[in-house]
Amino acid sequence: MKFIPINIPLLGKEEKDAVMAVLDSGLLTNASYEGGKFVKEFEAKLKAKVGTKHAIAVNSGTAALHTSLVAYEVGPGDEVIVPAFTFEATANVVLACGAKPVFADIGEDYNIDLADVRRKVTKKTKAIIPVDVYGYPADLDEVREIADKHSIKVIEDAAESLGAEYKGRPTGKTDHSGCFSLYATKVITSGEGGAITTDDDEFADRARLVRNHGMQAGYDTRVLGFNYRLPEMAAAVASVQMDRLDSYIEARRRNSRTLTETVSRLKGAELRQSSSDRRHVWYLYTVFLAKKRDEVVQRLRARGVGAAAYWETPVHKMPLYKKLGYAGLALPMANTAAAHVLSLPVHPGVTEPEIAAVAEEFAKAVKG
Ligand SMILES: Cc1ncc(COP(=O)(O)O)c(C=O)c1O
Repeated sequence: MKFIPINIPLLGKEEKDAVMAVLDSGLLTNASYEGGKFVKEFEAKLKAKVGTKHAIAVNSGTAALHTSLVAYEVGPGDEVIVPAFTFEATANVVLACGAKPVFADIGEDYNIDLADVRRKVTKKTKAIIPVDVYGYPADLDEVREIADKHSIKVIEDAAESLGAEYKGRPTGKTDHSGCFSLYATKVITSGEGGAITTDDDEFADRARLVRNHGMQAGYDTRVLGFNYRLPEMAAAVASVQMDRLDSYIEARRRNSRTLTETVSRLKGAELRQSSSDRRHVWYLYTVFLAKKRDEVVQRLRARGVGAAAYWETPVHKMPLYKKLGYAGLALPMANTAAAHVLSLPVHPGVTEPEIAAVAEEFAKAVKG
């Protein structure tokens, strides 16, 4: 069997044509407040999909998160609650603002544990960043309830969950902030890229300013801003990829069903993201293995299945956060997940015979 990677970008003639059209136009970027033609086209498609009044394209998921924090004026002396089990950008952006990341533990489904969040809210808390881990929405209503009670903001890290739904609502549908990533392995991609979604006019305006050096009409910096603009070639690719989103999600769901048939019959392997009020987008198909996770990963990779562990190290144990004194925090569920999770390829590039083979190899590897 040819090696099946955990995720790959799927690009076709339409993306090539879109890039060529930008090159032919000579308009590679646009430093206006609104952005260029393809940025606007992508934003229109994204906001229609998510159902928000605004979508603001930026040049990474990290930029989307950082822009949101800056737009909410999070800074030194402030605290932001983040899950310990996530990609480190979720916490790094808090440090970038000079604020303090406060790590919350996770629940059984790998998403932020809201009982722990409640314990960790203080007078200094300015925002909570729940992550839709692996493309499975966090308990967004409950996060919002906590936030409203304390008048703090929710910045949803939806980097992995474009197209997922929580109680029938798309992830990122909010009047606070929803943050998406268009990194090369994500549900759709432009190589690098990201976007913010919101129903709040004032926040959308701030975010557009932050994306563009704080400028509104030429050289008139009004607030602290950066260059977080999405280049037109990337926006053109993202726009084509938006048209493919539904079919990509359908293929991920089809592949996930094949895997679940096998996983549900296997002892020692457990799927933990299956609440009926959420629609998973299966950015990653992740199981909890009772034992021998690393051996199973190795065996699968030797057999051509690009299994991987996301994330082997929770953020508070990363070298940087160790140096900052976070490593000893009691975050037992995050530590356990890091030692037991394993993700299998489920992306739309995996054909039906291939996903059957992935499921079979997984069963063999777990049975040892
Ligand atoms: C949960 C999460 N947050 C943030 C990011 C950052 O996105 P980007 O790589 O586009 O900066 C990613 C993806 O890389 C992610 O998976």
